[in-house]
Amino acid sequence: MIINMKILVINGPNLDLLGEREPGIYGSETLSSINDGLSLIAQAAGAQIDFYQSNHEGNIVDKLHECRKDTDCVILNAGAYTHYSYAIRDAISAIKIPVIEVHLSNVHAREEFRENSVISAVCAGTIAGFGSYSYTMALQYALTLKDRPEGK
Ligand code: DQA
Repeated sequence: MIINMKILVINGPNLDLLGEREPGIYGSETLSSINDGLSLIAQAAGAQIDFYQSNHEGNIVDKLHECRKDTDCVILNAGAYTHYSYAIRDAISAIKIPVIEVHLSNVHAREEFRENSVISAVCAGTIAGFGSYSYTMALQYALTLKDRPEGK
């Protein structure tokens, strides 16, 4: 079965180092293994899924702009930009597609600066603290949007 749905997963700075980066906090799975798992779920549902990672704020802004015409939902782990990037927040506001904010770690149980997300208010929702399952849960929700043309 193929459904007419395209999902984009965007990962921000330092998430390319998953697997070796602070495994006690972020787990030992690499980003490509997380993405492979998401691909299998999307494939089983008949949806198209694409992946993008960048360590640069402007690239993430560009990607959000670029995807706005052909993507139904974005799953975004903005990494540290979550806490201070008004440019990424404005890009999310500017596009009309739902963006789900995800974090591997429980950002509320860590340093104080991680408690505030400048993007949460413009995202459809936030999932944090469940390791790679945060992405899985976001994808499960994204797949339900095929039945909800209104989206956000
Ligand atoms: C993160 C949490 C952020 O505070 C941090 O800067 C990251 C990863 C997470 O997935 O838990 O890079 O977004």
